[in-house]
Amino acid sequence: MNRWDDFYKEDSRVLSAPISATSVYAKSIFDSKKCSRILDLGCGIGRETLALSNNNREIVGVDLSFYGLSLACKNSKMQNCNFVQTDARFLSFKDNSFDGIYCFGLLHELTSNTWHKQLEQIMNEILRILNKKGVLVLAVLFGLPKNGLPHVRLFSNEMFDNATHDLICENKCILYDIGCTGSTDYRIIRGTFLKP
Ligand SMILES: C[S@@+](CC[C@H](N)C(=O)[O-])C[C@H]1O[C@@H](n2cnc3c(N)ncnc32)[C@H](O)[C@@H]1O
Repeated sequence: MNRWDDFYKEDSRVLSAPISATSVYAKSIFDSKKCSRILDLGCGIGRETLALSNNNREIVGVDLSFYGLSLACKNSKMQNCNFVQTDARFLSFKDNSFDGIYCFGLLHELTSNTWHKQLEQIMNEILRILNKKGVLVLAVLFGLPKNGLPHVRLFSNEMFDNATHDLICENKCILYDIGCTGSTDYRIIRGTFLKP
């Protein structure tokens, strides 16, 4: 149970939130690289999961929130899309089992005192389950970490680079996007990375 369970139960904004520009971008990258198995890490109610699909690939959505995943399963009409409740720090997937990973809005959820360790655990899992030359599209809230926000950890450019230093950066940018509450003032840092 995390704070998102309550949010998914009580806040109807999540049900009507449009997909982000980042997911449209990620789909084009996954299509161009002909990725056949994609993981949506921290998928919530599956807002973006289906948007990443095409007929030739399998998609797996992972989240800690049972309630979020229940909505995701209800909303999913695709047979090649599966949802798994698990902690992103301890994934049960085999090594090198995905050729694409999409992760929008998960890493800034790490707000406890041990966030640094948790971030390392998640990035190690991403590296482990991604194929060689597999692609990661990663987006996280960007801002002034000193000011912060009550429930999230904003990332600076430097924090983002530190978190992804084991991967090859193909490109990186800062933009406004649509968050899972439907808000369009979601200032993010987005990167596209390859596993060496
Ligand atoms: C900001 S929401 C983003 C949801 C989705 N990516 C979207 O954009 O609609 C963050 C999600 O991360 C999930 N989450 C937080 N910590 C997690 C963890 N350790 N493992 C897996 N999911 C986690 C939450 O349950 C929540 O659904």
